[in-house]
Amino acid sequence: MLYLKNLVYHPPATPTPILQGINLELAPQEMGLIVGPSGSGKTTLLEILAGMAEKTGGGLYWREQELLPMHLQQLAGIVFQFPERHFCGKTILEELRFGHPELRLEQVQVALQEVGLEGVALSVSPIPSAAGSSGGSLWRFSSSVSRICCFWMNPWPVWIGRCAVS
Ligand SMILES: Nc1ncnc2c1ncn2[C@@H]1O[C@H](COP(=O)(O)OP(=O)(O)OP(=O)(O)O)[C@@H](O)[C@H]1O
Ligand SMILES: [Mg+2]
Repeated sequence: MLYLKNLVYHPPATPTPILQGINLELAPQEMGLIVGPSGSGKTTLLEILAGMAEKTGGGLYWREQELLPMHLQQLAGIVFQFPERHFCGKTILEELRFGHPELRLEQVQVALQEVGLEGVALSVSPIPSAAGSSGGSLWRFSSSVSRICCFWMNPWPVWIGRCAVS
């Protein structure tokens, strides 16, 4: 169970806290949806959950264990609004192996299968215009990249992403 207890984020540069008294409980396999007006702190909260920003108050726990940014960076994958801006590999295989050159082909295939992209050509560019992927495939591919980053390090990755609602 993931717990946020009275989480606060108040960077020194802001006169008032960006996040104050945030509480959340998320069970294993449970999907959570964070909604709120523009500027309310949704992205900031996701960045804290991914270990990219550090809370300034309150607690963040997995069961009774406090999660620090160094843990969260290993446990959480984040898929940004424009995932293609963060790709570094020239091909889908390079992107999936980025930072993990030791990964075997079977492990890469498992990550793709988990997001329904089994059979995708590994030698094509991950950028949609070159690969001919739809936005949905792009998001799923980025999820597999995030997944691969933490899958072999722990059995219970937290997977967070962003989707636009219009
Ligand atoms: N490191 C920071 N220092 C100062 N202000 C920040 C910092 N990070 C975010 N902010 C401010 O915190 C507020 C929350 O921003 P955030 O991007 O998290 O909102 P959001 O809910 O994701 O908005 P949107 O729906 O537009 O994406 C904004 O006013 C933003 O300018
Ligand atoms: Mg945002």
